[in-house]
This record gives sequence, C-alpha cells and structure tokens, in this order.
Amino acid sequence: MSELIKLASRSDLPPEGEAKEFPCGDKMICVVNVNGVITAMDNVCLHRGGPLGQGVVEGDKLVCPWHGWQWDPKTGEAAHNPAAKVAVYPLKMENGDVMIEV
Ligand code: FES
Repeated sequence: MSELIKLASRSDLPPEGEAKEFPCGDKMICVVNVNGVITAMDNVCLHRGGPLGQGVVEGDKLVCPWHGWQWDPKTGEAAHNPAAKVAVYPLKMENGDVMIEV
C-alpha cells in the first residue's frame, strides 16, 4: 500500500539541471530537475551503492558521482541496461509542499 508523505518544501527543490538528496523515513530519495521536470527515485546506485542525489545531470540523464553510470530519472532505468532499474516515486505538489508516494 502506498502512502503520501511530505518530502520537502517546494523552495528546497534542486534548480534546473541539478539533483539533490532528501531523507525519507529510513532512506534517502534522489530528486532530479531535468528542464523543470521534477522526479524522484531511489538514491542508491545499483552498481556499488553510490549516492545518486550527489550526481550531476547531463542532458536528460543523472550521472552517478562514483563511476559514472547514467540513470533515467523518469523511469529509473540505467542507460546501458534497462534491466537495471531503481525505484521511481510519484510526486505531488500540495500548496508549498512536495509530497511523495512511497
Ligand atoms: S556506484 Fe554508481 S556508478 Fe558505481
């Protein structure tokens, strides 16, 4: 069953072309802004556990800061292997808050 909880304030979101980490319960969530489109995905890279929210945005991909695997922030798929997929989470804007469905 999914639950809607507050992840951040809208003003805390990363600017265009950047990513940021947010704590959510007992884990971290990676929030990415690609051309103004905000998406949320698991923060743990499937390669060796790198913190995706500390990565950089290149084009429409998020690049892991540790060894450069590229991730699609909309689908959670690795660019080189769509079978490698991190979870993505729907976001909802409610007043000034960013709510995440986990
Ligand atoms: S941990 Fe992300 S590319 Fe290695």
